[in-house]
Amino acid sequence: AELDLPSILEFTIALARKAGDLILAGSEAIQNVEASNVNEKKNSVDLVTEYDVRVEELVSKELSNKYPTFQFIGEESYSAGHRPPLTDEPTFCVDPIDGTTNFVHGFPYVCISLGLIVNKRPVLGVIYNPFLNHLYTGIKGRGSFLTKANGQPLKLPLTASPKPLPSLSQALIAVEWGSDPVEWGSDRAEKPISAKSSSFGRLAGDPAHIPGGKMAHSLRSVGSAALNFALVAQGGLDLYWEVGCWPWDVCAGIVIAEEAGGVVTGSHEVFTATKSDPSFGDVTEDILKGRKYIVVRAIGPSEGET
Ligand code: IPD
Repeated sequence: AELDLPSILEFTIALARKAGDLILAGSEAIQNVEASNVNEKKNSVDLVTEYDVRVEELVSKELSNKYPTFQFIGEESYSAGHRPPLTDEPTFCVDPIDGTTNFVHGFPYVCISLGLIVNKRPVLGVIYNPFLNHLYTGIKGRGSFLTKANGQPLKLPLTASPKPLPSLSQALIAVEWGSDPVEWGSDRAEKPISAKSSSFGRLAGDPAHIPGGKMAHSLRSVGSAALNFALVAQGGLDLYWEVGCWPWDVCAGIVIAEEAGGVVTGSHEVFTATKSDPSFGDVTEDILKGRKYIVVRAIGPSEGET
């Protein structure tokens, strides 16, 4: 039967807001520990894990009560070893707290990212940042929207008509350093970090001084993959380039960005779990052909197990 996506969206928005309350409570608890405890590091790490797990449990429980036949892939249950294969069945794909490092520091770019995949393609996305009360939503084929505190949904992008980027020199580009090295392995190892840094340098560097330099308007690092997608959809960023995202980082964002006229490249392999080329490519000229490019080089679940 056809899925009633608008009613699923309504349910997932209410759930994301509920999760947002728990994220805010967690952040407060962490800031208190940071302020009061000598052994702050261990305690705040424990608290982060605790809130990551609590938010995911809240969300997965409510989703499975409401949609008992749908599959569920979540960051926390995945890292705890629950790794269902991706099928053509409707599958929720959730990062309970995206921007974990920001969450620890109280840097207010943290969100829950809640997506729905059908036939291995993302079709619905909700990204909610409880710190700023910004809610981004999208349904494939029906547009994407930003709702701010007490406001009406605003159709994305917020700019009247996104123009093709005439040149990188006019682009504000998000890049990311990748996530926690201890928990996730290789993001910060010497080889990837030096490849990334030199790509960042070439992106931002003046060609007169940096071989291969492109000199973007500037680079940003927001610290949340999902919010990078949302910011491109909104029009605040022109490009988001990252190597090595997980499906729950990008699922909701893909729908929201594409519905706003964005172009996502490299996302397919996230959902089909094929091995991606582990080397790091340059940002290429084809960035200039489209409007808002997000280049996501991704690793899929099968790779996470190696
Ligand atoms: C991470 C953040 C980070 C990005 C990583 C993600 P997490 O997610 O979005 O900005 O660079 O690729 O895995 O660990 O905060 O949920």
